[in-house]
Amino acid sequence: MKTKLSVNINKIATLRNARGANYPDVLAFAQRIQEMGADGITIHPRPDERHIRYTDALALRPLVFTEFNIEGNPISKFIDLVLEVKPEQVTLVPDDPNQLTSDHGWDTIKYKDYLKEIISEFKKNNIRTSIFVDPDVKMVEGAVATETDRIELYTESYASEYAKGNTEIIKPFAEASELAHQLGLGINAGHDLNLNNISFFKKHLKYLDEVSIGHALIVESLMYGLENVIRMYQEKLK
Ligand code: PXP
Repeated sequence: MKTKLSVNINKIATLRNARGANYPDVLAFAQRIQEMGADGITIHPRPDERHIRYTDALALRPLVFTEFNIEGNPISKFIDLVLEVKPEQVTLVPDDPNQLTSDHGWDTIKYKDYLKEIISEFKKNNIRTSIFVDPDVKMVEGAVATETDRIELYTESYASEYAKGNTEIIKPFAEASELAHQLGLGINAGHDLNLNNISFFKKHLKYLDEVSIGHALIVESLMYGLENVIRMYQEKLK
């Protein structure tokens, strides 16, 4: 089973926002990233718009010819944006406005009715839904009751433990993926996945529809791209 790679382009927007001008051009990068072989583009607009802006989401819609995934906390401004943009997928994340990055999944039991109502609105608009969850069988069972199409497994604990050499950490993820599949859910995963930990993860999850990767992919691009770019500058400065 091929797992799709959705590239989270928030970090490109962060770089653009650092200088005020439209450089790097987020829209042009989204176009090129797809031409280079990505299966999707992910954005995570936050209320303070410190990374990607709500206007970026609208401008990206006609340019995303792969799969557009918009993730975020479903506050009313976010719901309105998603219904206007109509991406292929929306991923609901329980993050606080001031959080540096997402750091936990939904309590799908406590928030069942809340999630179910929002999910039903998106599904009525033909937008596939996914909810961010920890690798916990109870949360996966709870996700089914919300009628979401997919779950996204929060992989920070996998990434940090795997980096320390703890390969046992894959077990709850493999179990959650197996159970979700049996219960009819699609399985996405994301957070802190990188070139070092992705193969082991992929190998042990029988069912994995999509990963979304942002931070590490941009850092790795800097690392592997720097050598070429320094050489190009040195060539011009001869
Ligand atoms: N999934 C969700 C719900 C996220 O919030 C993020 C970070 O924005 C990611 C995936 C991607 O994480 P990373 O940037 O570490 O690849």
